[in-house]
Amino acid sequence: MIIAVDGPAGSGKSTVAKIIASELDYLYIDTGAMYRAVTFTWLQLQELVPDVNIEEKLIPEKDIRRKILSEILGKHHEKALQLICENISIRFQNIENGILTFVNSIDVSPYIRSTIVTQNVSHIASYREVREYLVDEQRKIAEGTDVIMDGRDIGTVVFPNANLKVFLTASVETRAERRLKDLEKLGEKASFEELCAQLARRDHLDSTREESPLIKAEDATEINTDELSIIEVKDKILSCL
Ligand code: CDP
Repeated sequence: MIIAVDGPAGSGKSTVAKIIASELDYLYIDTGAMYRAVTFTWLQLQELVPDVNIEEKLIPEKDIRRKILSEILGKHHEKALQLICENISIRFQNIENGILTFVNSIDVSPYIRSTIVTQNVSHIASYREVREYLVDEQRKIAEGTDVIMDGRDIGTVVFPNANLKVFLTASVETRAERRLKDLEKLGEKASFEELCAQLARRDHLDSTREESPLIKAEDATEINTDELSIIEVKDKILSCL
């Protein structure tokens, strides 16, 4: 059984998908974390990530790191991203209070939600080389298991034959409020207006890109979560099964 949950940033996909996965004993796959992991690697190889110094561990072969950097400097971004994808493997590990994301042997979970990754991920996610590689990986991880997967293109591209497709929406303001609360919990400050602008920018990039844009699959059930609690959203989804 495959449940596909798509929707824009902050629509509540990952929170609700995690709860459903634990209730139904399904595997939860956060595809956004995979796009973030590639983006982090891309930034890290260029030493653009403040205070993190692990590029030698992310891709241990010096020659390959050099080749990737020279492709970036030559503005051959497609080639550079293709080389990154060929040289990393992304995996998840469940722990007691969450899920860790690894690139090769490195736990990148502490870094992939940082502002710099968030600011760059939609751009990196628009490259065909990255999407083809990750979609392939997503299908492999899901093979032979009951899965709930969230993202932007799960019901349209990754699993067009999913047993259940859900498309979550909410206004930019509601989503910015949610993000603000998440950031407050992490002790980070942000302005509401800035978050609204960031979300609107990411929505635009995700919905207008050529490769697998964010759109509702024709046969997906749309749920507007503006006025709903997480439990209400979860119950609505489960009632569709
Ligand atoms: O958690 P949040 O909703 O902020 O985003 P995410 O799910 O972590 O995804 C980060 C970014 O990855 C999105 O804004 C998309 O640009 C990209 N993404 C995608 O293109 N396709 C997916 N299936 C999942 C994420």
